[in-house]
Amino acid sequence: MSSNTAPIGVIDSGIGGLSVLQSLLTALPHEHFVYLADNGHAPYGEKTDLFVRQRTHAIAQHLIDRHHIKALVVACNTATAAAIHELRARHPQLVLVGVEPALKPATQRTRTRRVGVMATKGTVASDKFQRLLASLDPATHFEVKACNGLALAIEQSTLPAQADAAQAEISRLLKQYVSELGAFGTHSGEIDTLVLGCTHYVFAQDQLQQLVGPEVQLISTGDPVARQTQRLLETTGLLNPHAAVARAHGRVNLYTTGDLAGLKAAAHRWLQLPASDCHLATNI
Ligand code: DGL
Repeated sequence: MSSNTAPIGVIDSGIGGLSVLQSLLTALPHEHFVYLADNGHAPYGEKTDLFVRQRTHAIAQHLIDRHHIKALVVACNTATAAAIHELRARHPQLVLVGVEPALKPATQRTRTRRVGVMATKGTVASDKFQRLLASLDPATHFEVKACNGLALAIEQSTLPAQADAAQAEISRLLKQYVSELGAFGTHSGEIDTLVLGCTHYVFAQDQLQQLVGPEVQLISTGDPVARQTQRLLETTGLLNPHAAVARAHGRVNLYTTGDLAGLKAAAHRWLQLPASDCHLATNI
């Protein structure tokens, strides 16, 4: 039996899921969170399906065993595509929320009926993504790009020693992928909506917006995922009944299987969280 005061677990291959944690922190001010970044094995997007499944199970199990989480948010499109079905089967007692590229919302928002999608190779190649794509109204055309190297460069941009080179690589890859996707804009035949199908890419969204122009809508999934988590906790009676812990020390604990300095830098830069909230996770 889960306790309603237990933390919510959030996992990703690395720091991308911090973009989802950001939304969760705002939507659920009464909750505690434990975030696990599998940086030691990132990026997932260009690894085999089996590897991603094994790592996702290992880090989920770690949060269940060590942190007794009441809910798990898989804040990684690649891990969700590879492992969410098995996770549901293995942990039927757990409130489980995954993320998938926001193709459906994009069909409602596009006016030109041309939508760009950026995601990892693993997500794009997955059955889950291909089924989602096939289920949508063919009146909307999706231009899909597997953005090899981009999540890795975003990971590396948080490591002080690699930051400058990684930033240059991010700029180069963004330019390349945006130009390969086609013409952006609001005229007929142009892509007016761009789906960020990898949680890492949210941290490059200002640069992306500059490249595609101010009229193009960028769609990410942090806020809907936070709302879905809230709804599921409500219906299962697992919302934390205590007063808001928004600023309380220890409200969030972040763990990494990789570089602790990188996690500290990312947590500070993107969530204004102190280094003391960040820890190393070993033996996973
Ligand atoms: N952040 C992840 C996603 O949403 C994966 C990035 C990676 O590790 O390749 O797909």
